[in-house]
Amino acid sequence: MRIIIVKDYNELSKKAANIVASQMILKPNSVLGFATGSTPTGTYKELVRIYNEGNISFREIVTFNLDEYYGLDRANVQSYYYYMNENLFSKVDIDYANVHIPDGRAIDIEAECEDYEAGIKKAGGIDLQLLGIGRNGHIGFNEPDVKFEARTHLVELDEDTIKANSRFFSSEEEVPKTAISMGIKTIMHSRRIVLLASGEEKAEIIYSMVKGKITPELPASVLQLHPDVVVILDEKAGAIISKHCNCMTQQ
Ligand code: GLP
Repeated sequence: MRIIIVKDYNELSKKAANIVASQMILKPNSVLGFATGSTPTGTYKELVRIYNEGNISFREIVTFNLDEYYGLDRANVQSYYYYMNENLFSKVDIDYANVHIPDGRAIDIEAECEDYEAGIKKAGGIDLQLLGIGRNGHIGFNEPDVKFEARTHLVELDEDTIKANSRFFSSEEEVPKTAISMGIKTIMHSRRIVLLASGEEKAEIIYSMVKGKITPELPASVLQLHPDVVVILDEKAGAIISKHCNCMTQQ
């Protein structure tokens, strides 16, 4: 695991976008795994900037998002489809036929999950997966105690996640209680992983993810076993881990 600590959220977003952009330049038909949440919005903004400067194109890029709330359709402003469209897809030259986000309105959930996995396989696997991390250590919507061997599946959201994500909804009751998420195994099959964390509320979980026991109780700890993970932190999220590792610090 390579850990890079940068000054602030702005630098974090630039660093992450540069890694994604270089992947796109090296392989214009890359398969990219995208994440949602507040952390990667700056990265998408930077990618749009790099795109507008004419340095990258999404024309041949294939995307798979980590997860989607179950019960929300694409047009719902809280859906992750809407989020991706607002933050990235509508602003670049992506071919929507190459965009994949689990269908939050799927009736046959099992078939939806199987198709999602088959789609990733058919595309040749994910070249680079972007990740955030939940306060409880979840990645995608893989909550504590998830099975490491799980593929894309329906997840029951933790109370902590519902509480944390209620800031995007008008009330806690409105937050869906379930979601469709790539599983840990799906994520671990990605060739490269870039995990982002910003702010002091992530400092402790980042320390445990990197230095703690590998356990389903902290889903992100499994990343210790992946051969190509870059963790990009701002100073606040890196405040504890920086005292315990040879992190690369960039100003
Ligand atoms: C959500 C998403 C995760 C994301 C996490 C952290 O629940 N499913 O993919 O990493 O929350 O979000 P934030 O970046 O807003 O802290």
